[in-house]
Amino acid sequence: MSKILVTGGAGFIGSNFVRMMLTETDHEILNLDLLTYAGNLENLSDVEGHANYTFVKGDIIDAPAMAELFGQHKPDIVVHFAAESHVDRSVLDATAFVQTNVIGTQVLLDKSRHHNVKRFVHVSTDEVYGSLGASGLFTEETPLQSNSPYSASKAGSDLLVRAAVHTHGMDCVITRCSNNYGPYQFPEKLIPLMIANAHEDKSLPIYGDGKNVRDWIHVIDHCRGIKRAMEDGVKGEVYNFGGDAERDNMFVVTEILKLVGKGEDLITFVKDRPGHDRRYAMDSSKARAQLGWTPTCTFEDGLKQTVDWYLKNKSWWERVRSGAYQEYYEKQYSSR
Ligand code: NAD
Ligand code: DAU
Repeated sequence: MSKILVTGGAGFIGSNFVRMMLTETDHEILNLDLLTYAGNLENLSDVEGHANYTFVKGDIIDAPAMAELFGQHKPDIVVHFAAESHVDRSVLDATAFVQTNVIGTQVLLDKSRHHNVKRFVHVSTDEVYGSLGASGLFTEETPLQSNSPYSASKAGSDLLVRAAVHTHGMDCVITRCSNNYGPYQFPEKLIPLMIANAHEDKSLPIYGDGKNVRDWIHVIDHCRGIKRAMEDGVKGEVYNFGGDAERDNMFVVTEILKLVGKGEDLITFVKDRPGHDRRYAMDSSKARAQLGWTPTCTFEDGLKQTVDWYLKNKSWWERVRSGAYQEYYEKQYSSR
């Protein structure tokens, strides 16, 4: 049994990972999260009080607080999810992205090294590789060519993790995954936003021509990959995870409309995202061969389950969409 510090465990992927680890393992989980607009303890209300679960509110850029936390809890393993994660927000203002994603990651690496953490798992993204043309896949050898402030900040953090391995001999692995979907995703991202808007008969804003392609993966398949990388990944290695489910945005949105039972008249084409990456698609053969991992959920099943979850959990997304999110939504979509 190990003590695992999970950063960003109150967010979308982190909360699914914490639940999976508490259900499937006997590891002790310490969830560290600042509870920004994207972090919500309600995502984990079902595991509150679990004997192996502790939550601590804190900011990963706060070095003295992190020194105290590492000194007090002495984690064996760090699984690092905490980040600013939304591309559109990074276009509006990149400051928090550089602070949390770059500086915050270095703070965690420093504290992990000083406190002899045995393994540091850095959760990163396929967006660091940039954009693909009509064919080809991202491999772990694809050069980093980030195009958005978000992905540039993630690439910066990936390089800091690489440097910690090469300079200080730290035992780190980096995972890079494609677009996740599933329960507890904040409704600013494409799939939950479109489900919520369709349900409420609001317009569905599609950027540009709607032909941008993403490689969709169910969040639980991603979490299974992170767990395998944590357990058996090789020090210093990068592992790609993808869903083998390339779909363009128009396809995704029209499928959602069918599942929600609404018509295509709700679709509105709006001004494109600046610097919008055209296509992402992952080659996950290394993770399959070396970690015995494979995605198990088809996009069709996963999307149906996800739409059902959002329709059953309307009170969850209504609550997270109140307050500060309304201001962001106005700013993001009113001038398009
Ligand atoms: P999210 O925005 O839902 O959650 C991020 C969490 O980090 C929130 O709980 C937030 O409160 C917390 N956080 C933010 N700043 C913090 C700080 N300074 N200190 C402590 N906690 C802080 O994001 P997500 O979609 O769950 O993504 C999690 C990680 O996975 C990110 O690193 C992201 O880059 C990566 N990733 C996401 C996807 C995807 O499709 N969503 C795909 C690949 C990789
Ligand atoms: O690829 C992994 C990345 O996927 C993660 O690293 C990021 O954290 C995550 O946010 C996601 O980034 P994307 O920019 O691909 O996801 P998003 O859901 O914002 O957009 C998906 C596609 O849908 C993209 O082509 C933009 C488009 N889109 C999005 C929104 C919010 C629209 O057309 N309209 C919208 O309103």
